[in-house]
Order: sequence, then C-alpha cells, then structure tokens
Amino acid sequence: MDKNIILIGFMGCGKTTIGKILASEINWKFIDIDKQIQEEMKMSISEIFNRKGEKYFRKLERNFCKLASMDVPSVISTGGGIIKGSTNVDVLKRNGIFVYLESSPEKIYRNIKNDNSRPLLNTPNKKEKIKELLEERKPLYEACADITVNVSEMSANKTVACIIEKLNMLSEI
Ligand code: S3P
Repeated sequence: MDKNIILIGFMGCGKTTIGKILASEINWKFIDIDKQIQEEMKMSISEIFNRKGEKYFRKLERNFCKLASMDVPSVISTGGGIIKGSTNVDVLKRNGIFVYLESSPEKIYRNIKNDNSRPLLNTPNKKEKIKELLEERKPLYEACADITVNVSEMSANKTVACIIEKLNMLSEI
C-alpha cells in the first residue's frame, strides 16, 4: 500500500483515539503529529504557543506534516488546524486519503470541557469559541475530505468500522 490515511477534524472530535484503533485494526503504523511536535520540542502544545507563539507552532506542524507524509503506509492523526495551511493539505494529499471526523459543537464541548490543553480554546466562553471556530473551519474540512464520518453519535469502535467499510468501498485498503 502506497497511501496514508489522514484523520482530520476539529479539536476534541477523537482523531487520536480513533486513529490508534484504526491503525491497530488494519495493522498500519500510527503517527500523531501533535505528539511528535511535543516530543521534538520537549514542551506541551500550550507551552509552545505561550513561549514561541502560534506562528512557530504552525511552522513545526508544516515540517511534521511533510515528514509524516513520507512514512507510508500510516494512519496519521493531525491537529485540528492543519487544514488552515494549504501546504499541509497539498503535501498530505499527494499520497493520502483524507477522512473527516465530523462532529457537532455540543459533542466537542462535552469531550473537552474539562481539558485545558488546547490554547485556542482557553477562553472564558469555551462553548461559543468552539462554535465560532468550527463554523469558520467546517468548509475547509469539507473541501479536502475524501471520506466523511459523523462521529457525534458514534462510539470510537463503530467509527473505525465505518471508516474501514468506506475505505474498502474506495478500494483503498
Ligand atoms: C489546534 C488543534 C490541536 C493542536 C493545537 C492547535 C487547532 O490539536 O494542534 O492546539 O488549531 O485546531 P487537536 O485537534 O488534536 O486538539
């Protein structure tokens, strides 16, 4: 197989959890771009944003997207903001199938209301911020998705089964 499976979607939609299960089900390598960035920098994402700024983080993200794209075949879990950079999308699209994990703002809020590890959501009104950012990004996720799975009402295991079914239909695995 000369392709990667790229999981995209908003913060807190479950990309890492689903990616790990999917990779182990199909016996592919699992790559988590945010995890790689944190390991390389020896800092959490919040620390990178605070100490180096978002621009610096985005540069790291671009570099790690490039590296991950060369590691085929892998299941790649991306950060929710990768779709903001056209270079990221271009580089990952060359040999990647984009799987969009679509989620409602309510479900996202439920998933991450007690988690303060996402600097872009550290605002007094987290719920509103999620809605606002999701509205802005939804068209970007939709534009690059090859496969979309709505995860709002689905367990991680069911989502993985659904992704595998859709990939089979496209003869991609
Ligand atoms: C971001 C999403 C985060 C992380 C960073 C920025 C974003 O990843 O990359 O906080 O811009 O949406 P998750 O989607 O894994 O939370």
